[in-house]
Amino acid sequence: TDRKSSGPYIAAIDQGTTSSRCIVFDRDGRIVAVDQKEHEQILPKPGWVEHDATEIWANVQEVVAGAIRAAGVTRKDIVAIGITNQRETTVLWDRHTGLPVHNAIVWQDTRTDALCRELGRNVGQDRFRRETGLPLASYFAGPKARWLLDRVDGLRERAEAGDVLFGTMDSWVIWNLTGGVNGGRHVTDVTNASRTLLMNLRTLDWDERICESIGVPAAMLPEIRSSAEVYGQITGGDLGELLDGVPVASALGDQQAALFGQTCFAEGEGKSTYGTGTFLLMNTGEKIINSYSGLITTVGYRIGDQKPVYALEGSIAVTGSLVQWMRDQMGLISTAAEIEPLAASVEDNGGAYFVPAFSGLFAPYWRSDARGVLAGLTRYVTKAHLARAVLEATAWQTREITDAMAKDSGVQLATLRVDGGMTGNDLLMQILSDCLDAPVVRPEVSETTCLGAAYAAGLAVGFWRSVDELRANWRQDAEWTPRMDPEDRDREYRNWLKAVRRTMDWVE
Ligand code: G3P
Repeated sequence: TDRKSSGPYIAAIDQGTTSSRCIVFDRDGRIVAVDQKEHEQILPKPGWVEHDATEIWANVQEVVAGAIRAAGVTRKDIVAIGITNQRETTVLWDRHTGLPVHNAIVWQDTRTDALCRELGRNVGQDRFRRETGLPLASYFAGPKARWLLDRVDGLRERAEAGDVLFGTMDSWVIWNLTGGVNGGRHVTDVTNASRTLLMNLRTLDWDERICESIGVPAAMLPEIRSSAEVYGQITGGDLGELLDGVPVASALGDQQAALFGQTCFAEGEGKSTYGTGTFLLMNTGEKIINSYSGLITTVGYRIGDQKPVYALEGSIAVTGSLVQWMRDQMGLISTAAEIEPLAASVEDNGGAYFVPAFSGLFAPYWRSDARGVLAGLTRYVTKAHLARAVLEATAWQTREITDAMAKDSGVQLATLRVDGGMTGNDLLMQILSDCLDAPVVRPEVSETTCLGAAYAAGLAVGFWRSVDELRANWRQDAEWTPRMDPEDRDREYRNWLKAVRRTMDWVE
């Protein structure tokens, strides 16, 4: 565009599952500069996924410096920095050395499946649902921390003494940004805390009895703060030199940040983000809606000392990462973008259905023991049909969530606002609209995750005055409407559900 943006600016860090990025935004919510770096996916055993938190922190520093340089600005032009992050991924570190005691255990990891089943037997599923809004599943952070405390020698004693700290990636990044071993702030925000299975949804504080039953000592937990307030200032290290004193002013789990970035501020507004996984969140206002259809209840955001806003969420573990799997593990495509022309080269799926239950199944089933299934194969099926089945898997998984959402809330999303890397795939967007039988709308800025973190940080420091001001920044890019014959849709959905049933009862 020929439109020049001028400062001041807000920076946002997105510490995601496969990469870390930093984006600099102007007052209109337009992107001024971006930098991004991938980190290693460590896969030690079937079902296990780890990250090296030290590598992630190094990458975060690199991309922040990179984005600031690319924007051609100095610290005086950056009024605040916001954080958003992959949720649930758990890191424990030594407060005195600043070093992680183990690789971080990633949200996709299913190693705590047996532990969760044991907790369910001893404490009961219902209690966790009631107090935390979450089903007892290997997805969430608390059991991951317990696993580490049980497995790493001497760790529990050090944690009880307050020498070892717990955090999701927001806490890890904020602690490091604000000084690390030299007085780093050990905090988290309500949205990230609502993914631990340790926070009480009503009090928005750690639930003592739940922490005790999972076996996570209070001494290691961060302070829970709102999503938009100043937690501290950037200090020390390489970034200290570049951005000394810049306020760290927001933290939101990436899916909540996308809800915020899509300006879903009113009850009944929702969005679906297509990244490694897919997460559909609907704003339910001040109401905590319990799900009876397999969704989860979570905190949407909380701005400073205003009332918290809650959300219903449908979480899907594997969508974009299935495309990566086709590329990296199977070698059927050489870039992720190739999936679109390959899938478009055939009319339909050739009878094949692919249910990517690689991390078990999340919503609405919550079966950590499920495993992936390719169903309906005949010799006729080519890799193009598989590519089609991969895209359809993303769409049908979304359909199961919108069905559950309608049941729980009584609200049928009239249109679906989408964002995230996969939404650049126009064929997928058409398939999605066909499977949902609803319009799908994509905004101009598809980087809504970073945008949401930037908005929250900007509100915290008065760069924007109210959420109404932000709504004006939302601009539509494209819309897709359903074209599929209703009979075909019903048949395909039934076939999909049949394939889903075949994924369960795998793990002994
Ligand atoms: O709950 C996991 C989610 O936060 C991960 O998001 O975008 O890194 O796949 P993403």
